[in-house]
Amino acid sequence: MAKTKSKWICKECGYESAGYLGKCPSCSAWGSFVEETTFVGNDKNSAANEFLNLEKPQLLKNITIDETFRIPSGISEFDRVLGGGFTQGSLILLAGDPGIGKSTLTLQTCGELSKFGKKILYVSAEESSNQVKSRADRLKINTENIYIYPQTNLENIKVQIEELNPDFIIVDSIQAIYSNSVESTAGSVSQIRECCNTLMHIAKSRCITTIVIGHVTKEGNIAGPKVLEHIVDTVIYFEGDKYKSYRLLRPIKNRFGNTSEIGIFEMISDGLKCITNPNEMFLAERSKVSTPGSAIVATNEGTRPLIVEIQALVGTTPYATPRRVTNGVDTSRLLQILAVLEKRVGLNLSKQDVYVNVTGGMNIDEPGADLAVAIAVATGARDVVVDDNTVIIGEIGLTGEIHPVDNLEKRIYEAATIGFKKAIIPYANEVPNIEKEIQIIRVKRLIDAISACVSSK
Ligand code: TYD
Ligand code: MG
Repeated sequence: MAKTKSKWICKECGYESAGYLGKCPSCSAWGSFVEETTFVGNDKNSAANEFLNLEKPQLLKNITIDETFRIPSGISEFDRVLGGGFTQGSLILLAGDPGIGKSTLTLQTCGELSKFGKKILYVSAEESSNQVKSRADRLKINTENIYIYPQTNLENIKVQIEELNPDFIIVDSIQAIYSNSVESTAGSVSQIRECCNTLMHIAKSRCITTIVIGHVTKEGNIAGPKVLEHIVDTVIYFEGDKYKSYRLLRPIKNRFGNTSEIGIFEMISDGLKCITNPNEMFLAERSKVSTPGSAIVATNEGTRPLIVEIQALVGTTPYATPRRVTNGVDTSRLLQILAVLEKRVGLNLSKQDVYVNVTGGMNIDEPGADLAVAIAVATGARDVVVDDNTVIIGEIGLTGEIHPVDNLEKRIYEAATIGFKKAIIPYANEVPNIEKEIQIIRVKRLIDAISACVSSK
């Protein structure tokens, strides 16, 4: 008979301890330990073992790559993030806030895959068949080959996988399913880990591509331990503002592709629409009148340049310590830029609150956006406006010099294509050779860049 065993697990990182700990020795989180009881017995891993096949090791040189190794999802922006399509037998964790569109994206993907004759098992652990059906109607999906299975028990799910032998499995969501071999409730760290491990075994041993949906916590992490990210092949976050219509698909781990590409969608009344030309969309959000504290940058996201607006609000603080609030840019990066503005440009910000925001819900973590952030703050503080149709690109060093950036030509080409007339670029970059009408101004120092932007005002 199986015995039970109690242990304490850190919710943040999965660290295990025999007793309660106030602070996690592994990730230093406070108050993150929860008690969980598990069965200890031979049946513990039987779930995974049933699917083991006894293949022999093969010589590397004798292995041939199957033509069908990559299966396109049929949704161009999803494929871009996956690195060209699904790798057969891989397990993908799709994480995001409730209501962001995870079920919509996966159901739409099912619709496309089924058109190519793929058999799909959609395990709906949170919604009834009727609810999934009404979403499918809204998405106009009425194809063969999609099996909806409202079920939360992993052992039952395994039986259906055996019976149906699908090409794809969707599990919506990992927090809602449970295995009999773990005693704690669905959504607990042990359950999530056990279920994910078993699904990984099934995916690998039966070569079934599996998408597992996961909710994120208020802090923005996948609910459940970080170890989940280590188990799966690919982790993709679906982000965006729930109250606005665009959505970003951002890979943070991909065993079969790079993680620099993002996918951009718009949520419309009949599902998610791929945005193939995102720059026009982001700029449509921008106010048409130039205002102090606004600067446009052409950032580099994967292979695609993105044109985004950075806004800064600078005002006298009522507090003893001025506030620095960012949305979409790294706070420590902003602090460094502010220090350079004070020391090298002579801007006194010690009594000023500084708020910086990237419009369009984007997160920018490339240094090429430094110069635009600095110019947004400087123009915001001095109440001047950047010249119309100017795009600003460059990384700022601590001495106030402007460092070169990658892929400058592509960025300038994109900016010129959508109507920018002037580009401020690092002197150290070569003048891009593009056949578009755009004035290029190369700058060596931050102070020169500021005067080049506001020269005609
Ligand atoms: P959903 O896929 O259920 O989100 P999640 O699975 O991440 O919780 O999508 C929820 C939202 O999307 C919901 O507020 C309604 C909206 N939506 C549309 O605007 N258009 C559509 O075609 C669909 C299916 C949903
Ligand atoms: Mg859902």
